[in-house]
Amino acid sequence: MIKIYAPASIGNVGVGFDILGAAIMPIDGSLLGDCVSVQSSKTFKIKNYGNFSNQLPINMKDNITWKAWNIFNKKIKIIKPVLITLEKNMPIGSGLGSSASSIVASVLALNKFYKTKLTQIELINIMGKIEGFISGGIHYDNVAPCYLGGLQLIADDTTPVTQNLPIFNHWLWVIAWPGSTVSTSIARKILPLKYKKEICIKNSRNLSTFIHALHTNKSELAIQVMIDEIAEPYRIPLIPNFLKIKSEIKKLGALSCHISGSGPTLFSICSNLKIAKKIKIWLEKNYINNKSGFVYICKIDKLGARRI
Ligand code: HSE
Repeated sequence: MIKIYAPASIGNVGVGFDILGAAIMPIDGSLLGDCVSVQSSKTFKIKNYGNFSNQLPINMKDNITWKAWNIFNKKIKIIKPVLITLEKNMPIGSGLGSSASSIVASVLALNKFYKTKLTQIELINIMGKIEGFISGGIHYDNVAPCYLGGLQLIADDTTPVTQNLPIFNHWLWVIAWPGSTVSTSIARKILPLKYKKEICIKNSRNLSTFIHALHTNKSELAIQVMIDEIAEPYRIPLIPNFLKIKSEIKKLGALSCHISGSGPTLFSICSNLKIAKKIKIWLEKNYINNKSGFVYICKIDKLGARRI
């Protein structure tokens, strides 16, 4: 049996809408990511379990694992029936790359099971295609870090499509999911179709300075330019009290606070564990609104998807 774990990820990373993404792992050792296993079976079957499996669609053909299998089916023609087991540990519509986690784990597990030997580029293209189909627009900022780990810069039409960026090892990423959902496709539809020249200039200035700061190990500069001109201003209405929360956790010492992907998860960066713990407690009290919500202190997951 082949079993693959694929970690949660933060899309956009505050300054790189659709082109920056970071894989994350909780420092307490929790597995925040989906697992997919594939084994031989007489007929094609999908089994779902895990904390969030009750959120999965009832119709099998709407399940991400089926969509992944269907692409393999078309690509390699003669295909043996399999039992796919999806362990859904990630809340859907949370902004933590839940769909990417299922996609990456499914594609990699099927690739290994069928010994397809697709290249990394072919695999990532398949992952991006499925993500685009689900969310209403191809974006690699979740699938790439989820697959490859680390902080990834998506270069899209180049080969490879993504570049691994340096990271600041002392940064801790506090992520808070309130327990509610935001549809990525809706959060994409509310963005303007066109942006003013000043916004484009500000955005390219911030993003390029951020990348420069990573390469020159200037963490304070990186924080200064971590500003989202493209998505965050338009998504504020989707996140209750976002600006108030941002300001409160900055008072507690957070270096930054942004929407993770299309939300409603928020992420904040802290320079030490003491501050991260204070922020975790504050968010648990003030941002989580039901029993399923959670807050984790995370590091960057440098490994990405892996066989377990
Ligand atoms: N870059 C995507 C967006 C990520 O913000 O729409 C979605 O998780």
